[in-house]
Amino acid sequence: MSRCQGVRMQPGAAGTTAGRQLDGAAVPALSLRGVGKCFASRAGAVAALRGIDLTVERGRFVTVIGPSGCGKSTLLRIVAGLVRADEGQVAIFGDTPDVACADKHVGFVPQRPALLPWRTVLDNVRLPLQVNKAASARRTLSREPEEILRAVGLADVLDRHPGELSGGMQQRVAIARAFAFEPSILLMDEPFSSLDEMTREVLRAELLGLWQGQQTTVLFVTHSVAEAIVLSDAVVVMAGPPGTIQAVVPVGLERPRRDLVELTDDYRELEREVRLQLRGAWASRSDGT
Ligand SMILES: Nc1ncnc2c1ncn2[C@@H]1O[C@H](COP(=O)(O)OP(=O)(O)O)[C@@H](O)[C@H]1O
Ligand SMILES: [Mg+2]
Repeated sequence: MSRCQGVRMQPGAAGTTAGRQLDGAAVPALSLRGVGKCFASRAGAVAALRGIDLTVERGRFVTVIGPSGCGKSTLLRIVAGLVRADEGQVAIFGDTPDVACADKHVGFVPQRPALLPWRTVLDNVRLPLQVNKAASARRTLSREPEEILRAVGLADVLDRHPGELSGGMQQRVAIARAFAFEPSILLMDEPFSSLDEMTREVLRAELLGLWQGQQTTVLFVTHSVAEAIVLSDAVVVMAGPPGTIQAVVPVGLERPRRDLVELTDDYRELEREVRLQLRGAWASRSDGT
């Protein structure tokens, strides 16, 4: 069985002690059992995911990496309750995605920012706090939307509309919106790919601050091996299509990650392991298996 850093890819692995750092937290943040998904297309059925087994314990930061089209976004969308799996079970803190989303446990930053064009930047970030006020009333938030927008470098554009912003700024609004309502599990689909390197660094630090401060669980998709290792407790390498889990690579680098950790031997060893697994994922793809 592969078990590492509170992340497992085999089913039925009850009784782990990993990830029980939260009070009585035996129920994992995320549990996927035999999850499969096919899409209908003009060319016939497209198998996007097959037999996905993954457990993420509470408070973990887990990154998903894999070739384009291997089902990473589909996986996140299933967890976010936006797509329904054809097979298997999905549980978020023991509930279905629909219940977890209604209770505001799930934050989702999609690959492209989905902002409401008629609302200002500030009102876009406030939106999830205004929807389902009953669920919001049960929680106390630690930071105001304005403060988060300031932290992601958008203090000067609070009253602007999305159409007046660059693509990178729009993406930062979408990230701020997800940070603002302090979800129990935060799903991020290549959130930093359209940003310049400096902004990316700032947002990585913000994200790690949020994760550490609020014991959020994060499931994060990236194409960057470096980003995956620097941010996470474990890297899930996917192969496909159809999407399967090739390996879970634990990242044991100490926290907080030190500056320029990329230059250390431990980092290089991890990078080698993730790249070897990715190579395996590509090989299985070209075989068509
Ligand atoms: N709504 C959809 N309808 C039809 N096919 C889809 C849909 N969403 C994803 N797919 C297909 O499912 C597969 C996985 O896609 P996706 O999850 O976007 O992969 P990734 O994010 O890893 O690039 C691809 O073959 C893609 O074309
Ligand atoms: Mg994708």
